[in-house]
Amino acid sequence: MLILGIDTSCDDTSASVVEDGAAVLSNIISNQTEIHRKYGGIVPELASRRHIEMIWPVVGEALTTAGLRPEDLDGIAVCKGPGLIGSLLIGCSFAKAVCYAKAKPLIAVNHLEGHIFAAFLEVPRPEFPFLALIVSGGHTSLYKVEGFSRYEELGRTRDDAAGEAYDKVSKLLGLGYPGGPVINKLAREGNPKAIDFPRAYLPESFDFSFSGLKTAVLNYVKQQSGSRDQSAEKTGDRPGNSSFILHPSSLPDIAASFQASVVDVLVRKTEWAIKKKWIKKVVLSGGVAANSELRRRMKEMAEERRVELFVPSLLLCTDNAAMIAAAGYHHLMAGNIAGLDLNPQAYLPL
Ligand code: KG4
Ligand code: ZN
Repeated sequence: MLILGIDTSCDDTSASVVEDGAAVLSNIISNQTEIHRKYGGIVPELASRRHIEMIWPVVGEALTTAGLRPEDLDGIAVCKGPGLIGSLLIGCSFAKAVCYAKAKPLIAVNHLEGHIFAAFLEVPRPEFPFLALIVSGGHTSLYKVEGFSRYEELGRTRDDAAGEAYDKVSKLLGLGYPGGPVINKLAREGNPKAIDFPRAYLPESFDFSFSGLKTAVLNYVKQQSGSRDQSAEKTGDRPGNSSFILHPSSLPDIAASFQASVVDVLVRKTEWAIKKKWIKKVVLSGGVAANSELRRRMKEMAEERRVELFVPSLLLCTDNAAMIAAAGYHHLMAGNIAGLDLNPQAYLPL
């Protein structure tokens, strides 16, 4: 079964061909980072416009790389949400048009389901049941996955997602967008114990909360620095340029201490779920799963607890269409075909 996957949920235009939900024949990603960088975050309108420009070439390249024509496909899987509505519309409209023109089945995939199924694109593949921690710019959710389409959400963030916290703290420190990779890199030179930032463990709950941590970083930075512009203090809203005057030598310690707080919570909650739910397999996916410290600490915990850990390679952790095609394959096998009246949804729980 050859499935073309399409993902335009946020700021990456991606198309991929996957065979039988497992073998990636192509995975093309056109990144918009340079467009949004100067604004310090994603500008939805610009993202939609760029998707319109890139969708044809990206899909074309995905087919060419796989050595296929549209006629060879068994179905087209598209991300229907959650995400930015304008961005999602481009991918969905495109997929609907191709399905109509070429008489192919249209398959609608939830973006979060895609992140879970990224783990099936590499060997060894997880067997059900497993726990899945999806950590991205928009989500931080812990699922118990009992089978295809059998997802139980154990917990989710009550405020900011982990990736959002990285991006906001990065902006606050004047490190630019996207924040995750830059804080990850800077943290390697810092002391994670230098500053005791809070950890919101939310006892007896699998939920997460990262907004208090973000405020703690803001307060710390305010204390340590002279402010350039009082009006911008609250949001640090100068793209790529902090409102605070910090000595550059203090940045690695702030980055490392902030990251330690995020990673501690993610690892401890997952560990708690392993104990409570008696599940010995864990999938870690989503953009923040590209974080080297999170990968290291989760691996350490998994070894201690004798748990099997599945973490997709970096390119499959961040947004990509191969994961959409992988999940799409299972929908097609189950006969879940979407109508051509499919509408994307910005808010779409799994
Ligand atoms: O899954 P993803 O590509 O898009 C969403 O679905 O949101 O995740 C993007 C998020 C961004 O917030 C980005 O800062 C974060 O993942 N991220 C990282 C790293 N690489 C990307 N966060 C921490 N460390 C990284 N190395
Ligand atoms: Zn994502």
